[in-house]
Order: sequence, then C-alpha cells, then structure tokens
Amino acid sequence: MDKSDAKKLLGGEFSFFFDNIDPIIQELKLEKNAKILDVGTGEGKMAITLALKNYRVLTGELESDESQYAKRDWLGSAKKAEVDHLITYTPFNAEKMPFENGSFDIVFISGALHHIKDGQAAFNESVRVIKTNGKICIFEPNLHAIGIIRGRKFPDHPDPVDPRDFNHVKKLSLEIKKTSFYDAYIFQKGV
Ligand SMILES: C[S@@+](CC[C@H](N)C(=O)[O-])C[C@H]1O[C@@H](n2cnc3c(N)ncnc32)[C@H](O)[C@@H]1O
Repeated sequence: MDKSDAKKLLGGEFSFFFDNIDPIIQELKLEKNAKILDVGTGEGKMAITLALKNYRVLTGELESDESQYAKRDWLGSAKKAEVDHLITYTPFNAEKMPFENGSFDIVFISGALHHIKDGQAAFNESVRVIKTNGKICIFEPNLHAIGIIRGRKFPDHPDPVDPRDFNHVKKLSLEIKKTSFYDAYIFQKGV
C-alpha cells in the first residue's frame, strides 16, 4: 500500500508520528535487509512506520505488562496498512533480552524507555544485542509533547528520561536530532 494511503487509514496520530520520525529513519541509511529490533511494541507506530518503509522488524513488549500502554491492537493497524507480513512479534523483557550478542544492526526504543522500570538494564541489553558499529535509536517525547500526551490521552504519563544518563559506562558515540515532538538519541557502538 502507498504510504499516504496507509497514513490516511491509520489516522492523524499515526500520520503525525510517521512524518516526525521518517526524516530521521532516512538519515540512518539502513540497509534494505537490516536486522531491526523494536523495543516496546505498544500501538505499533514504530514497527508499522519501519514496515511501511519496507523493512522487516522484530518487535516485542513485556508479556506481564497490564498497563494501558501494552497489549494494544498493533496487529489490527498493521493489517490495515498491509504490512503485517513484515512484522514479527515476540514478547520479551527489555531488561533481559532473549537475543544473542550482536544480533541486530539497530535497536529502536520509541516512546518506551521511560516506561521501562530499569532503563539502565534496557540500555545495556540494547548495547549487547547490537553488532559492532550497530546503532540504538531512542525516541523520547520532549516536554511540549509530554504536555500534549497528558492533556489528550494519558493524564498520568511519566516524565521522559534522558538516555545519556545510561551511557556513562558504555560511552557509546552519540548524535542527537530534534523533531517538533521527539528528541532522537542515536548511539553507535564502536569496535
Ligand atoms: C507507550 S508504549 C511504546 C509505543 C510504541 N513504541 C509505538 O511505537 O507505538 C510503551 C511500551 O513499553 C513496553 N514496556 C514497558 N516495560 C518493558 C520492558 N521491561 N520490556 C519490554 N517492553 C516494555 C510496554 O509494554 C509498551 O509496549
């Protein structure tokens, strides 16, 4: 399906997300067959965005998560956009991932790091599961965005976190890009 048709079908919130995130994904210049992990499936906005750009994605969230942020109908949305065949779901705990060292070219954590109890463990695990020269791309809503999320959708939404706070030990190189809604922290694992 054409991206603009998918955006129309999935609605304004998805469309806004896609337009915010797409330029950053383009700048990452991922290989066509890149091994991609999406941490924290939620509504599936990140996974569906990647799939609409023809990437295969492995995504998952904490099986025991009974919060309003989990077990959303991401599959229904993926089917609507006709990209469900590109997305594989497996439940996992980001704090202790069931993946081998160096399994992925990139890990995305979009709007999810501030929901993970032990963010440091999730960051360390992300570093472990990416290849040498692999990347971790973390999208955290900015303070303006948090106000909108709390006002329109989730009044008790937690504060964003600063992923740099988790990089003191591993000291990965970092590039920060800002959109109107998200701050993107792009870490790269050196040799
Ligand atoms: C707001 S949602 C993320 C939005 C989603 N990335 C999207 O694009 O629509 C937060 C997600 O973090 C997940 N999460 C929270 N703690 C987790 C953990 N320890 N391991 C894996 N996922 C976790 C929740 O289950 C939920 O899926």
